[in-house]
Amino acid sequence: MKLLPLQKRGLAASRLVLGCMSLGGGWNRDPITKEDLLQAEQAVDAALSIGVSMFDHADIYKMGKAEEAFAHVMKGKPGLREQIVLQSKCGIRFSEGAIPGRYDFSRQHIAQAVDGILQRLSTEYLDVLLLHRPDPLIEPEEVAEAFARLKAEGKVRYFGVSNMSAAQMRFLQQALPEQLAVNQLEMSLGHLDWLDHGVHVNQRAGTGVNFPEGLIEHCRMQQIQLQAWAPLAQGRFTGKPVDHEPDNIRRTAELVRQMAAEKGTTPEGIVLGWLMKHPAMIQPVIGTANTERIIACQHAEAQSELMTREEWYSLYVSARGENLP
Ligand SMILES: NC(=O)c1ccc[n+]([C@@H]2O[C@H](COP(=O)([O-])OP(=O)(O)OC[C@H]3O[C@@H](n4cnc5c(N)ncnc54)[C@H](OP(=O)(O)O)[C@@H]3O)[C@@H](O)[C@H]2O)c1
Repeated sequence: MKLLPLQKRGLAASRLVLGCMSLGGGWNRDPITKEDLLQAEQAVDAALSIGVSMFDHADIYKMGKAEEAFAHVMKGKPGLREQIVLQSKCGIRFSEGAIPGRYDFSRQHIAQAVDGILQRLSTEYLDVLLLHRPDPLIEPEEVAEAFARLKAEGKVRYFGVSNMSAAQMRFLQQALPEQLAVNQLEMSLGHLDWLDHGVHVNQRAGTGVNFPEGLIEHCRMQQIQLQAWAPLAQGRFTGKPVDHEPDNIRRTAELVRQMAAEKGTTPEGIVLGWLMKHPAMIQPVIGTANTERIIACQHAEAQSELMTREEWYSLYVSARGENLP
């Protein structure tokens, strides 16, 4: 079996990642409730039961409460920390009074953010730290200093980015001693620009497509792990009511349902299998906290191997809502 780029770097990362943005209650500073903790525990248990060993966080998720809820779960499972790959992100700051929400890749903010993450997760180290969204004020040398310090202190093992173009990655990379390990982007059957930019080269029809040229190729050539956020397209093809969605979404949801029934699998298996059939070895970061829906994702990798080229294109073309050029 082909190895993931992260596995080649020595991390025991599973193909599916549990995105933890739904854990920890509301997007507010209210205390975490017993129900929130139970939900986190059940979601993590369901993920572990289907072989998930990698978990994705960000310092901002539920104002830090997602990480706190996850720490509570780890506390109840001695030894779990060493068995999993923990990833979090920093670089987005909420608005404070008159100061608007903003990005911050300063040395000081990265260091403080990681200390906060480690404290909330109640762990001594992160396996992977991602810079959440590109900061226009980035100084690569400053980021490099922050990363070097975190690595020397044993606080972070690997570094990566999220929502960055290949040019932005190269710009940062030239200041770093080690290869960036990850780029996390929105990619799914419901968000197709990552494919459409490639099939529309030299076509007027492609002018509305927004995905950086050459990013997938750059990550593949450099062995950078691609991760897909929102890979379930928030449930639009897997059971969420779609009455008010455009025709292409409704038709594709029906196609997914039919394929799942024919293959004796779940709609989640088809939607994620479709994403995982792409040769870039994408890791879907599934954001559901619903235990049944997590378990419904378990056969996705097997489905990716069974899916034919014709089935893959049928889903792609249906979701695009128009034929390929
Ligand atoms: N790097 C970034 O900028 C970035 C941005 C956004 C997210 N992320 C990461 O990516 C992860 C996944 O993103 P995501 O949660 O936005 O997207 P997702 O995985 O595509 O969808 C999960 C969301 O859709 C709902 N959902 C799924 N299937 C459903 C169904 N059949 N019926 C009704 N609702 C359904 C889930 O609710 P239930 O919990 O009720 O199932 C959950 O709210 C996050 O947890 C986070 O780790 C990263």
